[in-house]
Amino acid sequence: MRVNVNDFFSEEDWNNVVNFSERHETPFQLILTDVIKQKYEELRTNLPYAKVYYAVKANPAPEVITMLNELGSCFDVASIYELRQLLALGVSADRMSCGNTIKKNTHIKEFYEAGVRLFVTDSESDLRNIAKAAPGSKVFVRLLTEGVMTADWPLSRKFGCHPDMAYDLLVLAKKLGLDPYGLSFHVGSQQRDIAAWDNAIAKVKYLFDWVTEEGIKLKCINMGGGFPAHYLEKTNSIETYATEITRYLREDFGDDFPEIITEPGRSLVADSGVLVTEVVLIARKSRTALERWVYVDTGKFNGLMETLNESIKYPLYTVKQGLAEKCILAGPTCDSVDTLYEDYQYELPLNLAAGDRIYWLSTGAYTSSYSAVAFNGFPPLKTYVI
Ligand SMILES: Cc1ncc(COP(=O)(O)O)c(C=O)c1O
Repeated sequence: MRVNVNDFFSEEDWNNVVNFSERHETPFQLILTDVIKQKYEELRTNLPYAKVYYAVKANPAPEVITMLNELGSCFDVASIYELRQLLALGVSADRMSCGNTIKKNTHIKEFYEAGVRLFVTDSESDLRNIAKAAPGSKVFVRLLTEGVMTADWPLSRKFGCHPDMAYDLLVLAKKLGLDPYGLSFHVGSQQRDIAAWDNAIAKVKYLFDWVTEEGIKLKCINMGGGFPAHYLEKTNSIETYATEITRYLREDFGDDFPEIITEPGRSLVADSGVLVTEVVLIARKSRTALERWVYVDTGKFNGLMETLNESIKYPLYTVKQGLAEKCILAGPTCDSVDTLYEDYQYELPLNLAAGDRIYWLSTGAYTSSYSAVAFNGFPPLKTYVI
């Protein structure tokens, strides 16, 4: 089915994309900051009580950070390298949280010395490191979540801990002189089942009550990310997510619920991006082969990492129209892992040829930020911002 760009961009924005693209060599990512601004405002309107900590890892382009900083966003920071970038851009440390549960002692110290006082943890040894290198800081304990099957990019198992362990860590945090501030979770990125928040919030409530036995009064819920971008697979609107999540919070906490943090990455920036690629080659593997292989100049190693397991299915737009046929899409490197979609077969026009462009829509998140190495000599994905 042919993608209608009007479902993704205003006419003016799309004209800007095409005009810009025609003057630049592929591959590159083009980010439209006005789309991010719109997404930010939409989130603020629908979750007015939540403090937004943008997950920098989704797209660390300086223009994106600067704009969100000016709009009043806070930032979820994954490493000292992101920390240094944000400080250089003038973001103040009291608007950052260190959201990675896996970190070196020396890195915790650097966060602390820069002025960051909010840390997330899910293990005893990390908690002890925080107590030493960042004394007195506020800590969130991250919970394991369910919903793996309904998230297109799951984040469970590697992060978070069972409620029993969370209880022990909160008690230990208090003993170590830290401020057991709250609980955090991430229901998985591009989470299509809103009920995943219901389960997570219920666990949080259980722990909020349980730790009062130890004289601990938690103050905040960090709900992580998980809100959707506009890909091929259907999702509910942000408004519906917000309405349901607010209902879950009310059911568990009443009207006077705790401070709420949200850490959107994908939902803020994905729809602002267009990845412009060029067809390098079209081939069939035998005289009678039914499948066409379409190779483009961007693959897993320079921007399309989230095609891993065909997890994220981006909407594709080609200028050429007419009779379309299913194809296998692959990247340009000498690595067979660099096959993008084979089970899911995109239908592309039969008259598509080498040199034609394919516009990958909704590619503003987790594309350029994953594209940091020059595998096979192909340079990391270039980003332009308009
Ligand atoms: C701790 C944390 N918060 C927020 C996010 C952003 O999630 P999303 O892109 O689903 O909004 C991530 C993504 O990896 C994360 O690890």
